[in-house]
Amino acid sequence: MATDDKIYENVIVERPADGVGVVRLNRPKALNALNGPLMLELLTALEAFDQDASIGCLVITGDDRAFAAGADIKEMAGLSAVEMLTRETTSAWDRLRAIHKPIIAAVSGWCLGGGCELALACDMIVASETAKFGQPEITIGVIPGAGGTQRFTRAVGKAIAMEVILNGRNLTADEAARFGLVNRVSADYYNEAIKLAGEIAKRAPIAVRLAKDAINKADELALAEGINYERRNFHFLFATEDRKEGMDAFIGKRDPNWKGA
Ligand code: CAA
Repeated sequence: MATDDKIYENVIVERPADGVGVVRLNRPKALNALNGPLMLELLTALEAFDQDASIGCLVITGDDRAFAAGADIKEMAGLSAVEMLTRETTSAWDRLRAIHKPIIAAVSGWCLGGGCELALACDMIVASETAKFGQPEITIGVIPGAGGTQRFTRAVGKAIAMEVILNGRNLTADEAARFGLVNRVSADYYNEAIKLAGEIAKRAPIAVRLAKDAINKADELALAEGINYERRNFHFLFATEDRKEGMDAFIGKRDPNWKGA
């Protein structure tokens, strides 16, 4: 850990490889249920890495038993509609969407409800064979409230999303891979995620940022608008030093030396 990393109560911040920042959810007794303090610490830690030029890719993980078993039901049980609407945790989900650097979810065990929505809000998912993905909110009389109806449906299609969300059925890691929810399944899921993050962290930082930005627009824009958006990001990169460096390095048959400028 770098000396300037903060110490948190509900998450642990780690730097296991060059350019890789990990935020580990750390409420193991509650299967990493996402209560307000954990969500706020998670976002503070992610935003700190997002601002840190030595970090190129982020990983969110839990432990082998649970990535996260959802929003904290015990915390939510006593809240009114207005309290749910206005509490800071709700805006934490918007802050997550504003992180510029790629985020990989390294998922093992339970990945349910808000935990599944957290994984789906990441850019890639590396799962262990024990991972179980689901949106069981229907079993406690509600529906997903942090993007599940939208992101799960976009990831796996309407029919499977309906079954998962309307009937609380969990997907196994193999099913999640087959339906395109996860990038890969591996018993060594954490190290696989760190390796992938380390590779991405070595890429040209501004190009990575603008690629993530453009890919996320694919969910939001019509095709012609999306292609125009991509083109603007592409043309912008011609104003960067790294664009020149990358092309010079290719022509000179050497490795590029990215500056993030
Ligand atoms: N909130 C609060 N506490 C939770 C929790 C949650 N989402 N999930 C698990 N826990 C707690 C349990 O209450 C238990 O605590 P105690 O030891 O103090 O009783 C501890 O974690 C271990 O859990 P279990 O004993 O239940 O473990 P299990 O192995 O028997 O079952 C499980 C595991 C199937 C995941 C079960 O814990 C479970 O069903 N959890 C709830 C899953 C869920 O409904 N998630 C959706 C929440 S709503 C939501 O997320 C809304 C949204 O969209 C934002």
